[in-house]
Amino acid sequence: MGSLVPPLYQTSTFTFDSADQGEKRFAGEEEGFVYSRLGNPTVKILEDRMAVLEGAEKALAFGSGMAAVSAVLFSLVKGGDHILCSQGVYGCTFGLLQLMKEKFGVTHTFSQMRTKEDFLSAIQHNTSCIYIETPINPTMKVVDLKLASEAASEKGIPVIVDNTFCSPYLQKPIELGCDIVVHSATKYICGHGDVIAGIAAGNRKIMERISKTTQKDIGGVISPFDAWLLLRGLKTLAVRMDRHCENAEKLAEALVRHPSVEGVFYPGDPTNEDYMTAKKQMRKFGGLVSFTIKGTKDDAQAFMDRLKLIKIAVSLGDAETLIQHPATMTHAVVPAASRQQMGITDNLLRLSVGLEGWEDIWEDLKQALEKG
Ligand SMILES: Cc1ncc(COP(=O)(O)O)c(C=O)c1O
Repeated sequence: MGSLVPPLYQTSTFTFDSADQGEKRFAGEEEGFVYSRLGNPTVKILEDRMAVLEGAEKALAFGSGMAAVSAVLFSLVKGGDHILCSQGVYGCTFGLLQLMKEKFGVTHTFSQMRTKEDFLSAIQHNTSCIYIETPINPTMKVVDLKLASEAASEKGIPVIVDNTFCSPYLQKPIELGCDIVVHSATKYICGHGDVIAGIAAGNRKIMERISKTTQKDIGGVISPFDAWLLLRGLKTLAVRMDRHCENAEKLAEALVRHPSVEGVFYPGDPTNEDYMTAKKQMRKFGGLVSFTIKGTKDDAQAFMDRLKLIKIAVSLGDAETLIQHPATMTHAVVPAASRQQMGITDNLLRLSVGLEGWEDIWEDLKQALEKG
């Protein structure tokens, strides 16, 4: 009792005092836990905290970000429906959209989503939801969430936002009128690179439907221990995010000035076309910086191999600075033509800026840029 840290209920099942109690819990006539795929006290603490942070009525935790994304989409969409999607999404989300098309005839359209007309003209009679990533992985383009929610509400369609790149500390889509937030909690929410997890948050009615259908029956739930680790991560989310953002801003400025760098994609750059939108809806500009180096795919890969401090790895939001090559890694599943449309060129690199001293990260980038 009086434990500062939430207790870890590392259990698969819960015992009942009597057969009658078991019957009542299954019938929903008595509050209480039954089986950890259907609910667990440690997981519930995480879900309740995530709901508060996102300004949502209810949140659900999952065993991965993709489990959260798929549980939400499978719940909102039926065969023959259409999904309107931002031009650029995480590679496996793209893969899931393909799978839904092939297996269930759920079509999708990618849109730049720059004006209200972009939304309204792309919404079809069978569009059942709008799916947005912002900033978009890995091009860092920003979608105006208020504009999205206004257009969607004219048509009565829910807006789902993948808030992974921001965490609720930097961006709160529900406060901007969007309906559902999903996360790869593997990233900033965990913050330590030791958990794969996901979150979905939204209004009680939709979340309860997901919890009783796609979460329960497809079963991509989080383990209690991983939920416990995420609760630890949440305690330092704000301080970590501040440091990620400060480091990223300094590195983006330095990269822009370097002669071997062709372009920098960072929403906090005042010359970036999305700067004003980012400033309006994000507290700070985030910890990711993408950039193209002058040269080819081979030059980009050789540059990565020269790095010493910075680790070559996918994922993001960890204490360590990570670099990846989207065209051959996170977005390799996306066909080359679609990659081009999304702006993922062969010389594009994505840097997840860590918590190290920014001068150390810059020194490493600089030596690798200059030895080429
Ligand atoms: C923006 C975004 N959404 C979703 C995911 C999927 O999350 P997970 O790897 O936890 O399943 C990722 C993973 O990199 C991501 O970057």
